[in-house]
Amino acid sequence: MTKATDFIPQEYTHEVTEKGNFQWSAPSNIALVKYWGKKENQIPANPSISFTLNNCKTITKLEFEPIKSTSENFSFDLFLDGKSKEDFKPKMQKFFERVEIYLPFLKDFHFAISTENTFPHSSGIASSASGMGAMAVNLMSIEKLFNPEMTEEYFWKKASFLARLGSGSACRSIKGSVVVWGETESVENSSDLFGVEFSETIHSNFQNYQDTILLVDKGEKVVSSTVGHELMHNHPFAKNRFEQAHENLAQMKQILIHGNLEKFVSLVESEALTLHAMMMTSMPYFILMKPNTLEIINKIWKFRQDTGVQVCFTLDAGANVHVLYPENDKEKVLQFIKNELIVYCQNQQYICDEIGSGAQKLN
Ligand code: DP6
Repeated sequence: MTKATDFIPQEYTHEVTEKGNFQWSAPSNIALVKYWGKKENQIPANPSISFTLNNCKTITKLEFEPIKSTSENFSFDLFLDGKSKEDFKPKMQKFFERVEIYLPFLKDFHFAISTENTFPHSSGIASSASGMGAMAVNLMSIEKLFNPEMTEEYFWKKASFLARLGSGSACRSIKGSVVVWGETESVENSSDLFGVEFSETIHSNFQNYQDTILLVDKGEKVVSSTVGHELMHNHPFAKNRFEQAHENLAQMKQILIHGNLEKFVSLVESEALTLHAMMMTSMPYFILMKPNTLEIINKIWKFRQDTGVQVCFTLDAGANVHVLYPENDKEKVLQFIKNELIVYCQNQQYICDEIGSGAQKLN
């Protein structure tokens, strides 16, 4: 079994004396079984599984230049859409601190990190998964210069491992269409340290599965995910919830293999509502759904009942609704969304996405 210390590199075989740059994109992902609650060092309290998205992604260029004398501090500039972004720096600083022992060269370089998202930054869509994912693969490209013999397998595993240290769900944004994170009996080789590609063949019902994201609320969240995870410590229902996640993941595995859409719908919606139930029953308690979130959920239920189309919703830690449905029903569902749901979106905004395959190197 892989241990965290396996990612501390042996002495590197090559030197990097020239400046250079890499550019990668990494997608967002949507969890079907949710990660909510963690232990020390970004170890998840329960396993999770997600669909990788295709269109919602972060594109990050990482320029690096060796500095003459190794400095005490990390040296980096951060740009979002070409503009210096000072308020992102503490998060990146913390990420560098967490990954330094796994990437011992970090203080030998000055970095210019230029990042952009394909989704509107005011959309309220979390960019931490795609952002940390893109950062992690860029850093692995640099490590590969020091260690060109590195295997593909090590590259991707360690990229996911590093991404996790930036943001837990980011480890599911690196490689594969369906990714499991967190050690669990039903998934061989699953690990708390990195995401693993779901290795079974997925039923054709889930091919090109669609995710239309309805932007209900773009406001600042009242409670951040980090605080939310924290509140799972001493939560009265935590133990049951963590056990349930293992069971749900085992069920989801069978659903994805056998293609049972009805079971998929009920498991996914139950997971979304359980996530929010955990928020509502923590102390302090909080609600991230908005009235329009509930309006949309009710409309989806009615549409499903009236038409038999297996469309369902899921939620992350926010008010936006992810509408999930088979590619075959795309036309019908999009029409339904336009006719009945976009009135509940801020400025009628929504984003059409579908299952993707992970990070991509752009240069
Ligand atoms: C509700 O990955 O954003 O989206 O590890 O603190 O960065 P940190 O948390 P984060 O948590 C997201 C949780 C979730 C569910 C999920 O994606 O599994």
